[in-house]
Amino acid sequence: MRVLVTGAAGFIGSHLCERLLELGENQVIGLDNFDPFYSRTQKDDNLVLLKENPNFSLVEGSLDQISDLDELQSEKPDLVIHLAAKAGVLPSIKDPSGYIHTNINGTLSLLDWMKEKGISNLIFGSSSSIYGNYPVTPFREDMKVSQPISPYALTKASGEMMTYNYYHLYDINCINLRFFTVIGPRQRPDLAIHKFFNLIQKGEPIKLYGDGSSARDYTYVGDIVSGVMASIDLLTSSSSIYDVINLGNHKPVTLGEMVEVIESISDVPVKKDHVPFQPGDVDVTYADIAKARTLLGYEPSTSFEDGVRAFYDWFKESRLVS
Ligand SMILES: NC(=O)c1ccc[n+]([C@@H]2O[C@H](COP(=O)([O-])OP(=O)(O)OC[C@H]3O[C@@H](n4cnc5c(N)ncnc54)[C@H](O)[C@@H]3O)[C@@H](O)[C@H]2O)c1
Repeated sequence: MRVLVTGAAGFIGSHLCERLLELGENQVIGLDNFDPFYSRTQKDDNLVLLKENPNFSLVEGSLDQISDLDELQSEKPDLVIHLAAKAGVLPSIKDPSGYIHTNINGTLSLLDWMKEKGISNLIFGSSSSIYGNYPVTPFREDMKVSQPISPYALTKASGEMMTYNYYHLYDINCINLRFFTVIGPRQRPDLAIHKFFNLIQKGEPIKLYGDGSSARDYTYVGDIVSGVMASIDLLTSSSSIYDVINLGNHKPVTLGEMVEVIESISDVPVKKDHVPFQPGDVDVTYADIAKARTLLGYEPSTSFEDGVRAFYDWFKESRLVS
C-alpha cells in the first residue's frame, strides 16, 4: 500500500511511519513543513531511521501548498493519515489564527486535494481535548462535543466535521481517532512530561497547576500506533465508513501521581512550584475505549510508569535539554 502520512517528522507521525515500514509491504511518503513550534533538530532526529529506509520518502512542504508539490503529483496514495497540525492546548490560546490556519484551512486543502486526486481513505488525528470539561467520565464518542474550551479543541472538532462533510459529499471514507495525551520517546517538548524533565535537568522548579487533582488518560505512543494500524485494516476493508473512535488508556493519572512517578525515575531531585489552574485546560481526560476494543481489537498494554521510563531513557540518550 502507498500511504501518505502528514506530520511525519513529528512525535506520533515518525513512530507511525516506522511501524508502517516494519511490515515491509508499504511505501510511505511523509509530508512535513517543520513547523517552528519546536526545534527542527528534534524532528530531524525523529527521521533518522526512516531516512535509511528505501520505502520512505519525505516531502518538505505545507498542507496549504499540497496541490503544488511536484513530488505528490505522480502516483496517488491509497490512504492518507493526517497528523500534521499545530498541536497543544495552551499555545493555541495565544495564537488562535495560526491554529485555525493550519488545522482548519490546512485540513480543508488536504481534503480538496484528496477529492481532486480521487483518494478515498483517510485517518484523521483528532484529540480528547474536544470533550472539554464534559461533566461525565469516561468520555464516550457519542457525547456532545460542540462546546470546545480552547482554539485547539475548536480546530479538532471542526476537522471532524469537515471530514464528515467530505465523506457525505465525495465518498471520502474516514476514521477520526481521538488520541488521549500521548507519552513516550520523542514526545513534544511542550507536553508536561517532556517539559518537566527538561526543567528538572536544568535544576529549575516544575510548575504544578491547581491542587494536583487534574488528571490525564496518558497513553503510550506504541499503543496509539497499534490503534492506528488496526484502523487502517478497518478502513480499507470497508466499502463505506465514517466513524469516530477514542484511543486512550482508560486509566487517568492525576498530576500528583504523575509527579510521584517522575520523582521515582529521575536521577536529579525535583523542585516544585504550585501555581493556579490555567483557563482553557481541561480538568480530567478519561477515555471510554469500549468502541476501540470492539471495532479495532485495541488493548493498550504499556503502563504509565513504563511509558515515562521509556521517555526518560530516550531523553537522556538524545540530550535534547533545551
Ligand atoms: N501528542 C498528543 O498527546 C496528541 C493528543 C491528541 C491529538 N494529537 C494530534 O496528533 C497529531 C500529531 O501530534 P504530535 O504530538 O505528533 O505533534 P507534532 O507537533 O510532534 O507533529 C505534528 C507535525 O506536523 C507538522 N506540521 C505542522 N503544520 C504543518 C503544515 N501546515 N504542513 C505540514 N506539516 C505540518 C509539524 O512540523 C510536526 O512535525 C496532531 O494532529 C495532534 O493534534 C496529539
